[in-house]
Amino acid sequence: MDLQGIKLTWLGHATFRIETLSAHQILIDPFLSQNPACPPELKSAAGSKIDVILVTHGHGDHLGDAAAIAQRDDATVVAIPEICGWLRSQGVKQTAEMNKGGSQEIRDVRVTMVHAVHSSGIEDKGAMVYGGEACGYVIEFENEFKIYHAGDTAVFGDMHIIHELYRPDLALLPIGDHYTMGPREAAYACSLLHPKMVVPMHYGTFPALTGTPREFKHLVEDMGIEVVTMKPGQTLG
Ligand code: NI
Ligand code: MN
Repeated sequence: MDLQGIKLTWLGHATFRIETLSAHQILIDPFLSQNPACPPELKSAAGSKIDVILVTHGHGDHLGDAAAIAQRDDATVVAIPEICGWLRSQGVKQTAEMNKGGSQEIRDVRVTMVHAVHSSGIEDKGAMVYGGEACGYVIEFENEFKIYHAGDTAVFGDMHIIHELYRPDLALLPIGDHYTMGPREAAYACSLLHPKMVVPMHYGTFPALTGTPREFKHLVEDMGIEVVTMKPGQTLG
């Protein structure tokens, strides 16, 4: 897999750390301390000082340690306004809120917030508070390489718009089923997104997430898409 200078580390579940071309550290969906799939040595610190955190939605397995890491590393959190507001109420100083369809430059990347079909509540002291809507992100690097992180989502027809407008080179897609797409739906998503490469995520972390990379790979192998199954803690690029 050629990531054109970008380094991608999977921390298990939907959590990825990306090192940009100028060596900034981006953390997506920072589910670390409670993440059964995250290697123990990476649970507290994510392995690096983090500059930017992207959050796709409010569920605990995505919002995770966002507040703690943002405060520890003085990182900027990118999320939908409802989640940024909640994080500020938790003491987070730097938020860069945005909404679907828009883009913003942050450090040396351009981040676009895109649609996802999923829910987004925030568990707060035993209650579920409104977290806006779930989203995905397209991250464009200075060399125009693009990564799409789908967040938690069902397959939806407007993934075709993500292809038409942004042409992601690499898609990070949930395949675990039950709460998101399973392998069959994720394979269909590939037929809409036409990425060059896919890394499956959000499977195997909990017993309910039964989809396997093997099934997924089998379904997309005829599409000419490179499927790379990562191990938690592994870095590519
Ligand atoms: Ni979720
Ligand atoms: Mn999830």
